[in-house]
Amino acid sequence: VAELKAATRALLEAVPGDPNRMRRLALVPTMGALHAGHGTLVRSARAESDVVVVSLFVNRLQFNDPSDFERYPRTPDDDVALLAGAGADLVFAPEESEVYPDGRPLVTVSSGRLGEKFEGASRPGHFDGMLAVVAKLLHYGAPPAETGVPVRYRAYFGQKDAQQLAIIRRMVSDLAYPVGIAAVPVVRSPRGLALSSRNRFLGTEEAEAALVLSRALFLLKERADAHEPLRVEDAEALIASQPLVRLDYLEVVDPGTLEPLAFNCRETPFTGQALALVAAQVGSVRLIDNMPLGG
Ligand code: PAJ
Repeated sequence: VAELKAATRALLEAVPGDPNRMRRLALVPTMGALHAGHGTLVRSARAESDVVVVSLFVNRLQFNDPSDFERYPRTPDDDVALLAGAGADLVFAPEESEVYPDGRPLVTVSSGRLGEKFEGASRPGHFDGMLAVVAKLLHYGAPPAETGVPVRYRAYFGQKDAQQLAIIRRMVSDLAYPVGIAAVPVVRSPRGLALSSRNRFLGTEEAEAALVLSRALFLLKERADAHEPLRVEDAEALIASQPLVRLDYLEVVDPGTLEPLAFNCRETPFTGQALALVAAQVGSVRLIDNMPLGG
């Protein structure tokens, strides 16, 4: 961490131009095993920042199944090559003993009700474990106090993990973290499948079948854009027509609280802003996707 801080400070102070101009510092937290979705996240940060730091850390605390943690793909050489290509300035890959010197932190942040529903329901403890590391990474990535130039600090997250993003936004607001949170839209394959490190475990037929998830979301988006009633049951029927896909949930919620919407999606024309969330099992793989509606 001390090395990261020194390098961050040196890069910020080396940014050319008026010393009173804000230097823009970006942190992009990842667990490695990077794909093109991560690449887009880093390129977005690059386009809006002077200094881009990417963290690579497979966070044991957010895996509820220890064998899942052991199996998580680790491809550090490929990751560093992808990050260099996407324009990262610094890669921060701490040892577990540095992040969690006592094995497990004694004092932790709770994601509360936001962390119990949807993904939290099938992965108990996942979001609290995620916050345990993000709470620290946001400090590690922050501009060192002694930096001699003014700095605007932002952290970048993918809209792909919509619930994670909502929980992080809420932590940053509830705990007054001095960082801006930037969200990058879901990066998809040309046919619509949201990119994920888990897609590699899909067979050809399963990958084809999985396209029904994004089709269902785009159907809801078309209706939202046209201010029609969403009629979520049509999107459910589309998913149900695909026997290889077992729907877990498809819900339209408030984007901040993830609570069900106050209006009736069946009859009331769509206005305002919402988020459609979907999760399904396809073969051995659990896939999630989502679509912001309105706004
Ligand atoms: P990881 O799964 O490595 O994802 C790192 C970031 O990449 C997250 O913000 C995620 O939303 C984003 N991302 C992944 N696939 C994407 C896609 N198809 N389109 C857009 N963004 C995508 O999420 C985590 O790591 C961890 O929980 C972390 C926040 C690093 C804490 O450990």
